Amino acid sequence: MPRRIILDTDPGIDDALAILLALASPEVELAGITVTGGNCTLDDGVRNALGVVALTPAPATPVHAGVALPLLRPPFTAPETHGDSGLGYARLDPAPQPPAAEHAVDMIIREILAHPGEITLVAVAPLTNLALAVRKQPRIAELVGEVIIMGGAVSVDGNTTHQAEFNFFVDPHAAQIVLSSGMPITLVPWDITSKVLLTGAQVAQLRLIDSPITRFVAEATRFYIEFHELCFGFSGCSLNDPVALALAFAPELARTVPMHIAVEHASELTAGRTVVGYAGSTALPPSAHDMLGWDTGRWPHGWSRVHRPAANAQVVVEFDSERFVAIFLERITQLARGTN
Ligand code: BDR
Ligand code: CA
Repeated sequence: MPRRIILDTDPGIDDALAILLALASPEVELAGITVTGGNCTLDDGVRNALGVVALTPAPATPVHAGVALPLLRPPFTAPETHGDSGLGYARLDPAPQPPAAEHAVDMIIREILAHPGEITLVAVAPLTNLALAVRKQPRIAELVGEVIIMGGAVSVDGNTTHQAEFNFFVDPHAAQIVLSSGMPITLVPWDITSKVLLTGAQVAQLRLIDSPITRFVAEATRFYIEFHELCFGFSGCSLNDPVALALAFAPELARTVPMHIAVEHASELTAGRTVVGYAGSTALPPSAHDMLGWDTGRWPHGWSRVHRPAANAQVVVEFDSERFVAIFLERITQLARGTN
């Protein structure tokens, strides 16, 4: 049975590629796309999601507008990375389908309550929609099946400041709410996704199929590749958001380690920094945890629980990039062949 997924986005070029991958993957039943402000404004993001969906064989996939602004911080968009419209050089026709009437936050809550334990939330944007959903209906924390988050920089500099990756930087308060919510979280950080590259040559190969999808991918990624080459010296662009989506149907691509993850939200200097604790990770054998009293509560006055919180996320530390890129290209090719 396919996994029922909600894809929370800020489209965004790699968000758009994640939408295409979701709609090209038979293991996935896409309940809907939710949108928040991030790479571009909320209005642009909704228009982009609708435009991308309209290119595919599933043009009626619902797109739910969510929260426009971060919880406390001012909005911070990324036109240098994704272009003024959010989709690089691509220009899509206005979609025939309007956005869904239901707010993204309410859609997330309704879906999780209606399908207890079955929904996979793939969040590839600032976590504003998820934070407000769990604040509005805290029961979703225990009823959601899994939350896969693209965000954070665990052991490398961030891509937005030295301290912070974009999704955590834009709304660190929301990220901290979600990370501390008790939801079952898999985190795929920039450390991993930045190295998963789509090259110009691979895009040119895709473009041999003449389809609205390959035309879109080529025009959007031309801008994205130029940015990655200029800014990071990469030969290609990072498939950040598609990597998170793939973990919903191919978790074997990743090796994860349990860690405690928090997000710095009080300091301007380090806003959005991923704060990592290896408690619960394989860094120490279980016997050492027991000896130290970390998991047993043997320390007096709850000291160990205050200072050594248990793991709250499975963090991706290795990823089979080659295999993933092959799957990605194969599926986009199939999707394009079906629409040319
Ligand atoms: C993340 O930030 C955005 O620019 C991308 O869409 C991705 O979700 C990478 O840091
Ligand atoms: Ca994104």
